Amino acid sequence: MAIGSVMSIHGQARKVTTHTLQEMKSANEKITMLTAYDFSLAKLVDKAGVDIILVGDSASNVMAGHATTVPITLDHMIYHAQCVERAVDRALIVVDMPFGSYQGNSTVALESAVRIMKESNGHSVKLEGGAEVVESVKRILIAGIPVMGHLGLTPQSIYKFGTYTVRAKEEEEAAKLISDAKLLEDAGCFAIVLEKIPRELAKKVSQAISIPTIGIGAGPDCDGQVLVLHDLLGITMDFSPRFLRRYLNLSEDINNAISQYCDDVRSGDFPNEDESYSE
Ligand code: KIV
Repeated sequence: MAIGSVMSIHGQARKVTTHTLQEMKSANEKITMLTAYDFSLAKLVDKAGVDIILVGDSASNVMAGHATTVPITLDHMIYHAQCVERAVDRALIVVDMPFGSYQGNSTVALESAVRIMKESNGHSVKLEGGAEVVESVKRILIAGIPVMGHLGLTPQSIYKFGTYTVRAKEEEEAAKLISDAKLLEDAGCFAIVLEKIPRELAKKVSQAISIPTIGIGAGPDCDGQVLVLHDLLGITMDFSPRFLRRYLNLSEDINNAISQYCDDVRSGDFPNEDESYSE
């Protein structure tokens, strides 16, 4: 049986740990990761056998309707992580550290990470950036909290970048990204998300470091892939980047179901005899 398989030799759902992910990279077994922000969908994602559930700060866009990930707070992230944690039996839960909870001050970073772990029961944290945040990464790791890195397009810096276009196409930025990946590996991160970078660069990084890379818009040579669940399910239809594969068109199905419900109520068809209680 493959190392990362859902079942253990005892037939029980085997919990995914950071060690499992490392074993999967060594065995050339691809790692699956999806976002979730609430109990019901996290339960479905976990049951389907996804290896890592990311309580992403994309909740800021998907759940709260903000244009960027900047406004979401530490309290909001902890709330979403608590909801997800109650649902999950198998997957490793990674919780995004939101903008403002770690940048520029490693003491604040450590306090934020400790709050996430104590209050949400999540299993690990993720933060964006390389050399700029490596001191925070080290302090969080010393406290015994596993850290996932995030390089390439780092949406919390959108006001610095100005656009959501592909990152690290130029040699200088690509060289910094490779050096940042090695720094994060040396610091002790257990994996790194590579977002929206050329596939050749993602391949180079994945071969240059021994920890798993998880790509989003970074091509097929990463050790795993991540998507935002609501994009994959076709709930968010106004977001269509090249890298996105939609597996359902739920927005249409949901719209049809709700329209049908309204018609049935208005026509008096719902509720019918079978759907009513009698004395
Ligand atoms: O918040 C998020 O959903 C993410 C993924 C895009 C990797 O960070």
